Amino acid sequence: MADSGIENLLHEDRLFPPSEEFAAQATAQAALYDEGEADFVAYWKRQALERITWYKEPTEGLDDSNAPFYKWFADGELNVTFNCIDRHLEKGGDKVAFHWVGEPGDTRTITYRELYEDVNRLANGLRSLGIEKGDRVAIYMGMVPELAVAMLACARIGAVHSVIFGGFSAESIIDRVEDMKSKLLITCDGAWRRGSVVPLKENCDIAMESTPSVEHCVVYKRTNQAVSMTEGRDIWWHDLVAGESSECEPEVMGAEDLLYVLYTSGTTAKPKGIMHTTAGYLTGVATTHALVFDIKSETDVYWCAADIGWVTGHSYIVYGPLANHTTSVIYEGTPDYPEKDRLWSIIEEYGVTILYTAPTAIRAFMKWGVEYPERHDLTSLRLLGSVGEPINPEAWIWYHENIGGTVCPIVDTWWQTETGSIMISPLPGVTTTKPGSATKAIPGITAAVVNEEGEPVDPGSGGFLTITEPWPAMLRSIYGDDERYVETYWSQHAGLYWAGDGAKLDEDNYLWILGRIDDVMNIAGHRISTMEVESALVSHAAVAEAAVVGATDDLTGQAIVSFVTLRSGVDESDELNDELRKHVATKIGPIARPKSIIFTPDLPKTRSGKIMRRLLRDICDNRSLGDITTLADADVVATITAQQAEARRSDEE
Ligand code: WTA
Repeated sequence: MADSGIENLLHEDRLFPPSEEFAAQATAQAALYDEGEADFVAYWKRQALERITWYKEPTEGLDDSNAPFYKWFADGELNVTFNCIDRHLEKGGDKVAFHWVGEPGDTRTITYRELYEDVNRLANGLRSLGIEKGDRVAIYMGMVPELAVAMLACARIGAVHSVIFGGFSAESIIDRVEDMKSKLLITCDGAWRRGSVVPLKENCDIAMESTPSVEHCVVYKRTNQAVSMTEGRDIWWHDLVAGESSECEPEVMGAEDLLYVLYTSGTTAKPKGIMHTTAGYLTGVATTHALVFDIKSETDVYWCAADIGWVTGHSYIVYGPLANHTTSVIYEGTPDYPEKDRLWSIIEEYGVTILYTAPTAIRAFMKWGVEYPERHDLTSLRLLGSVGEPINPEAWIWYHENIGGTVCPIVDTWWQTETGSIMISPLPGVTTTKPGSATKAIPGITAAVVNEEGEPVDPGSGGFLTITEPWPAMLRSIYGDDERYVETYWSQHAGLYWAGDGAKLDEDNYLWILGRIDDVMNIAGHRISTMEVESALVSHAAVAEAAVVGATDDLTGQAIVSFVTLRSGVDESDELNDELRKHVATKIGPIARPKSIIFTPDLPKTRSGKIMRRLLRDICDNRSLGDITTLADADVVATITAQQAEARRSDEE
């Protein structure tokens, strides 16, 4: 999809130069590129010293003595919450940290001082449950301010948080809690979603039957539905914090102490626990949030409309904005509830100046039509961002015209759970943008598109996206699996970070990210592993074999299509088809529910028995099949192609 129409868009008239409003800082911003290029370690060290308040300033920059286990600012000492909250109190404790909008329409305004008190009370509560520095705490909540409070309370006392997206299933909680042996689980009774309740506590109850490491479960009351509380194990949040002091001495953390782990899908069925440490991560998110979004903390009302359960929310709802003393909006629900103008009504109400969202959302807005944004005054907006998947030029232009009123620059930001912070993006003051291109690496970051041999490709060609030098917010490893860390990210080409994305370099050296080239799908901006869905499918008694691919989809970028071979004696039926799709949703979560399942007597395999996913993808996308001479049984392809064509026809009807 990102590929579509690129050539047309390279004409002069489709270039978007930096707007007047941003011109004032253009020179200063341009100088940052030179500074980063001259000495990226010195550049990041300057950012770390200027943007972070340290208990002990680091003398070190990058330690690459044990590459790829890099360390940054290793002899420094700090606490992330001191930087995100305490240091702002004197000059602006009454400033709003979060304007929170609940899905049913209730709202809350939380100042920095209130956040300070809430975080400290919970931090003291956690300590009273025996949580200490280095302990792991799993957090499975909806989009309530207490989710941010829970993360920060962990960081306050040096506990490591692991946030589990509230849309995941009980089984996904088990995997993640077990991997880290989390001692505590923090959840809500339920979460609002399109007017109904997602039973978060109930999912935790199922999970906790298989997670012996969990000693306690803290439950925040949000939806008020009845939940069962197990005596001695489960505690209401309000009971835990009642009577706790609003003062809590922050733990002094080493720069390389673990801040959090966030799981993401890889090429195997087991999600990877991506490890982020304290100082480098904070430096990365604070710097990029300030530069890419041109944050003016006095006047901006910033809104990252992601979920805190993904890395975008960690870095650009919680840590980056708070470090920069920003006022943010947090919205609990979906953009189409109760009506399809919910986002625009919130922007008007709070005078939002910066909006950061995903291409899938933008394509949904396009489909719903301009009448919804047109109902509202969006002139407060001055900058727009995009993240999570390639943005097709059509969506970019629509966003620019209908939401940005043709005056807001768009920052298309490429990064990953692993990178921690934004890596490739325009800077609004200096970069001429091209719709569909994330443009160039930001100051201090060096990206390259390389060929199979790891050599940089020429302008005008495509290849694999790599990062050529370490950066402060980079992942430090995969939790409990250093070997997999080295193998996944550092073994394709010596010394280069392997992103797993394909990219094109145009004649102006602009980068066009084409999407994943491994077995990871990107569904509506969410990473889902083909293997994870396959293993969920084969865990069903009716399934003998399954192959899963991400097929091109106009709305969600990719959609999950599964090819399933049933066990002998099992008949295919529409009911079974539905049941299998539901089975995957129960195993992983609703986001992993296949869009379609195609029953097939056999799967196309190479002579050595490997499933030919590329071929299946091509069949789904109706592309020419290319070389299939290695295929063991060419008949299989003919059968699947015919079935897929049939499915497409009935889809269109
Ligand atoms: C994709 C989300 C194109 C990419 C922050 C990457 C993008 C994966 C962009 C990481 C973008 C993210 N243009 N593709 N601007 N941003 N991606 O870990 O394939 O959930 O590897 O982090 O999303 O997804 P993750």
